[in-house]
Amino acid sequence: MNQELPRHIAIIMDGNGRWASARNLPRIAGHRAGAETLRSVVEECARLGVPYLTLFAFSTENWGRPKDEIAGLMGLLDRYLKKETTTLMKNNVRLVTIGRIADLPGNVQSTLRKVCETSSANTGLTLNLALSYGGREDIVEAARKAGKAIARGELDPDAMDSSLFSTFLSTAGMPDPDLMIRTSGEMRLSNFLLWESAYTEFFVARKTWPDFGIQDLHEAIREFQARERRFGLTSSQVRSGGK
Ligand code: IPE
Ligand code: IPE
Ligand code: MG
Repeated sequence: MNQELPRHIAIIMDGNGRWASARNLPRIAGHRAGAETLRSVVEECARLGVPYLTLFAFSTENWGRPKDEIAGLMGLLDRYLKKETTTLMKNNVRLVTIGRIADLPGNVQSTLRKVCETSSANTGLTLNLALSYGGREDIVEAARKAGKAIARGELDPDAMDSSLFSTFLSTAGMPDPDLMIRTSGEMRLSNFLLWESAYTEFFVARKTWPDFGIQDLHEAIREFQARERRFGLTSSQVRSGGK
């Protein structure tokens, strides 16, 4: 049994709309309740000493949602970031982002810039928010950057391998997620961290994101610790240290 904490936890925070519908509330009420879960999960990961937490907050596909839901989500994000800056600082959390930040409304971009800058010297948890993020788009962007470097003569195409390619992704410098949690019972990636999740352990919680609590996070970590990660080897090879 592996007692180590995951170095990187990724979460697909899903089910806000269903949480709200079940209570006859508007979808935005579900997103508001989801923001509360977000706060408690961030604080707990910081307290436990998890080094990286990536949260899927808005996908490239989510731009297709009704305009009022998008506006509500963006407003909520802006308020959350402003309100939570003190909590992030108190917990030594460094905020970073992945995704097409330039697609977000100007006010959200400037708030993000401020909070990232304010928290940049924090040395505890790195909280990585995936905003206007799509795994395929990120891989295409990485290929474009690598192509440009080759065209400028700065990169030998024969030197390209998977670890070099990773340096062109928006997650460059972060370890791949060890554990991915998705709430509300859905068993799909929905275009999240496609490249990085090649060997990630999955945990699907039945609860919606607003109902997901610290105990559920602990359960996911415990289950992760009980798994044997074989990375293509046999079980006996793993137990004897890869021989
Ligand atoms: C997740 O909850 C939040 C975002 C995708 C922004 P949903 O809004 O997807 O909730 P469901 O899946 O409709 O219940
Ligand atoms: C994935 O959830 C995106 C986020 C959690 C931000 P969705 O609710 O958008 O995913 P699908 O549409 O059910 O696959
Ligand atoms: Mg959903």
